[in-house]
Amino acid sequence: MKCVILAGGSGERFWPLSTRETPKQFLKLFSDKTLLRETFERIAARLDPKDIYIVTNRAYAELTHMDVPEIPRENVLLEPLKKNTAPACTYATLKFDPSETIFIVPADHYISNVEKFWCCVQLGQNTLQEYEAIITFGIVPSRAETAYGYIEAGERIDENIFEVIKFHEKPDHQTALSYLEKGNYFWNSGMFMYKAGYFTEQMKKHAPQVIEPFLKKKDLEQIYQEVPSISIDYALMEKADRIIMVKADFVWSDVGNFNSLKDLGVKNSQLTVVMNGENLFVKTSKPAIVIGVSDVVIVENENGILVCKMDQIDKIREALKALQQKR
Ligand code: GDD
Ligand code: MG
Repeated sequence: MKCVILAGGSGERFWPLSTRETPKQFLKLFSDKTLLRETFERIAARLDPKDIYIVTNRAYAELTHMDVPEIPRENVLLEPLKKNTAPACTYATLKFDPSETIFIVPADHYISNVEKFWCCVQLGQNTLQEYEAIITFGIVPSRAETAYGYIEAGERIDENIFEVIKFHEKPDHQTALSYLEKGNYFWNSGMFMYKAGYFTEQMKKHAPQVIEPFLKKKDLEQIYQEVPSISIDYALMEKADRIIMVKADFVWSDVGNFNSLKDLGVKNSQLTVVMNGENLFVKTSKPAIVIGVSDVVIVENENGILVCKMDQIDKIREALKALQQKR
């Protein structure tokens, strides 16, 4: 099996910690290791580094190499343009023999338990020996999250393995609420496993506009100029002929914003004093005193200062655009 880590995203939801130059996958949020490094170590617990690949943007080549020097340079596939995850998965998958098992993982997630994680991965691998399908890893949902894809599970194949009726990428709030009530919908963890040959066949059938530039052209610049910007979820998962879900039983978070950091137990910076306030997330490079304020995120570093009500954290991106216009 080859593992492909997708590490070319440009999330700015963690500003001022993350910036365009240093997106979320390069932040050290839970330990003294970046999320990318933690992802690599989780995979390297069972796979040889020569079987681990990274697809990222050219702009992050050096950061990536410094962070995971164990991965051979030729395994770091560099994209000339950001075109989302469908081109990234295609670029990597076409490097391999059709019979090879490919395990796609995002670089910027939190996963608690490496043993449990690998039990699920193993289940996926075993399932692929028997069925021609794309394997997804479903998480039991706990809220009507609209930032995730949902896997509609059908018939049970084995204890934790289900046939998938349909994949629904990022529903609106009302639809997400109805999914939650139904009980057979799971969050898509963003990890996929497939045989390279099945992926290629399915892409040719359902997303020819994405795969054809890769098949026709040799020059990566030209391919990336031509290929549309689209996620693998919209390009393929919503249309794929057969998907099978492994129900994941590890603690998982896609670490979407500062609130999720707080939920995962990340503490305020050490030199913080809070008086008459609660539900705060404070991360500052300087000592901080917070008095009489609740439900607020306060983050400061050399890039800037963020003060934001917890329930308006989604507005960071928009505010950042406005800030960039002022510069
Ligand atoms: N190489 C490369 N190139 N990687 C990319 C690119 C790109 O252009 N764009 C994003 N990525 C990487 C990100 O760094 C991340 O590791 C992963 O691909 C997923 O991209 P996101 O942009 O974070 O996707 P999402 O969170 O909106 O949605 C996906 O993940 C959810 C779970 O976290 C979907 O798969 C959802 O269905 C899923 O629920
Ligand atoms: Mg994400």
